[in-house]
Amino acid sequence: MFTITIITVFPELFENWCKTSLIARAQEAGQLKINCIRLADHVAPKQRIDTPACGPGAGMVLKAPVVAAAIEEAFARYGSGEVVFFTPSGTLLTQRLCQEMATTYFSEPLSGAPGVGDHHIILVCGRYEGVDDRVIQRYSGRKISIGNYVLMGGDLPAQVFLEAILRYLPGVVGDSRSVFHDSFSGPLVDFPAYGQPNEWEGMAVPPVLLSGDHAKIEKWRNDAALTQTVKEHFSWLRTSEISSEMRRSVAEKIPAHYVVLMHDQVLIGRKEALPGTTSVTTIDVHDIARSSATYGIKKFYVVTPLHDQQELLRVFFQFWHTDQGRNYNENRYDAMSCVKVVSSLAEAEADIMSLSGQIPLKIATSARPVDGVQSLAFDDQAIAWQTARPVALMFGTGQGMTAELLQACDYVLTPIHGFTGYNHLSVRAAVAIILDRWLGYFEPSK
Ligand SMILES: C[S@@+](CC[C@H](N)C(=O)[O-])C[C@H]1O[C@@H](n2cnc3c(N)ncnc32)[C@H](O)[C@@H]1O
Repeated sequence: MFTITIITVFPELFENWCKTSLIARAQEAGQLKINCIRLADHVAPKQRIDTPACGPGAGMVLKAPVVAAAIEEAFARYGSGEVVFFTPSGTLLTQRLCQEMATTYFSEPLSGAPGVGDHHIILVCGRYEGVDDRVIQRYSGRKISIGNYVLMGGDLPAQVFLEAILRYLPGVVGDSRSVFHDSFSGPLVDFPAYGQPNEWEGMAVPPVLLSGDHAKIEKWRNDAALTQTVKEHFSWLRTSEISSEMRRSVAEKIPAHYVVLMHDQVLIGRKEALPGTTSVTTIDVHDIARSSATYGIKKFYVVTPLHDQQELLRVFFQFWHTDQGRNYNENRYDAMSCVKVVSSLAEAEADIMSLSGQIPLKIATSARPVDGVQSLAFDDQAIAWQTARPVALMFGTGQGMTAELLQACDYVLTPIHGFTGYNHLSVRAAVAIILDRWLGYFEPSK
């Protein structure tokens, strides 16, 4: 039996909820027992359950002796158990945490095997400014937050928590297989679901789902789940544990990205920055090529209208784009194969158009905020990727791209900073950091 005791100011908030659907069914099946304890039952008539928070400022806290008395009653009536406190400052509730807790509470929850261990959890729903912290310390309670926002009380968080973990209670969800491919159970979100009628508002159910060919349906669903995750939940995917095979599949789903290094239309001059051109630096070309190869950049364009600079690069590539470079260092030769010199941004765009069939979305980068261009944060990939256009990440040299060039871009990424006031990264360092923040995989610890 899995026993839950809810300590709350308002037990009536749980009455209907306990009677609904799967929660009711689990109770009827004898797997689950839900009890409520009203905090007001632990004070004498006319006494308060709350008290002003110590120190200056407004706000009331739930009194330590009142909450402790309710917890002790839960232990006395239903046995000892784990105490869980709901608070916005707690550990964020994620599917991963739900799985971990379910594994502790339910015997073999993930296999869907029958048999439920005896467990008791006591959920304390805060109100006002919360529970006196000494109660949390006294009961070594687990603190859980359901999100980075503040609700009026812990009752909805308790229901959210229970709805999430009870899905793992064997028998609660009719077909336990559906729990396995739930969104966020692994690195992917679920595939999109369709039902009858086959045609609705001019939209048809994808024909493969009606084909009866299970292998094809499986393949379609995996692909749809992967596409949806890459496009809409890249932050989740890139912090999840994924196989090297899936990494390759993810790389194929990310829209084509290009790096454009501007030596034209940039600001030059220390005292008064004016539009001009800058010289090419071979170490930049070299290092940016290696970063580009690491993050799957399709081409790295060096934009310079200056013939002597183009000539310099021609000589440089006589080594790196030939067997001489390959024999010297094959990895670097591979990286350098993505570099192309062009004399203007228009030429780079035309080349991307010929490779990807579409005009690229130009995403500028700048060491300072840019007015008048929509700004993107480093977890805003969905905004760019939903356009289904190739992406050109634009980098300036000298003192950065001219205002005119920045204004011609579709978006600008937020500047990269440390916590110091020093803001003078080399362009090759900035490219590496930005590529990692935008396209990097952050392997979780095992
Ligand atoms: C108004 S809130 C107290 C907020 C508290 N002053 C703070 O900023 O952390 C009252 C109660 O609602 C519950 N609560 C509000 N937001 C929550 C969240 N995001 N996750 C979990 N519990 C929450 C907690 O039980 C909390 O004690």
